[in-house]
Amino acid sequence: MAAPIPLRSPGRPLLTALLTGLVLTQLGLRLWIRRWPRPIPYGWAWLLENPWRRSYRDPERLAAACALRAGDEVLEAGCGSGLFTPALAAHCAHLSALDIEPRYLAQTARKTAGLGNVTLLQGDLAALPCPDASLDVVVLISVLTEVPRPVDALRECRRVLRPGGRVVIGEEFFGPEYVRAGTVERWAREAGLRPLGRQGNPWAYLQTYAGPA
Ligand SMILES: C[S@@+](CC[C@H](N)C(=O)[O-])C[C@H]1O[C@@H](n2cnc3c(N)ncnc32)[C@H](O)[C@@H]1O
Repeated sequence: MAAPIPLRSPGRPLLTALLTGLVLTQLGLRLWIRRWPRPIPYGWAWLLENPWRRSYRDPERLAAACALRAGDEVLEAGCGSGLFTPALAAHCAHLSALDIEPRYLAQTARKTAGLGNVTLLQGDLAALPCPDASLDVVVLISVLTEVPRPVDALRECRRVLRPGGRVVIGEEFFGPEYVRAGTVERWAREAGLRPLGRQGNPWAYLQTYAGPA
């Protein structure tokens, strides 16, 4: 009798192909964003809002880590779909939520409807529509590498800060625009910002910088 032909489960090759596809797509996206920095396409909003992201970027915990004070005037630049906007607004006097993409701002508008201390701004981090020395804190979560000249963008953040003001920068490995903390620190120093501290871990961190003294 002929030996039985071993049956192969179709599940394993399919899973391997899926995982390989995912890794290659991530790699491609990272290289592409690094080479041609640009805003995340609007169709990728689901990446920002997925439940897994919330598990390591819980909006309440992030807002607490930003250490905002009740009287602070805050700018959240690159607010995206507004995942963090209501939590940040709950900890300060006034929050301006800025994004270059009006469809993201519309999402943020829906999330902040009814909050009296939030203003939505369409604008570019490279040329903030805010007067000099008018803000206490600028929050930048997963946005810096989408801007072609991050050092200039950080100089712009410094410009709008009052003496004693701070810039809080968050990056996370699972976002294709991820950049290492050391690189952000180099950019920040070049922009005249002074490191105050780092929270989290290398995969999902928050760094705080002091602006003008
Ligand atoms: C990866 S998303 C992060 C959104 C949000 N901060 C979050 O973490 O959920 C980056 C956001 O920055 C915005 N953005 C990119 N370049 C920008 C620029 N030059 N000025 C203002 N917003 C920008 C994009 O439109 C997008 O909404």
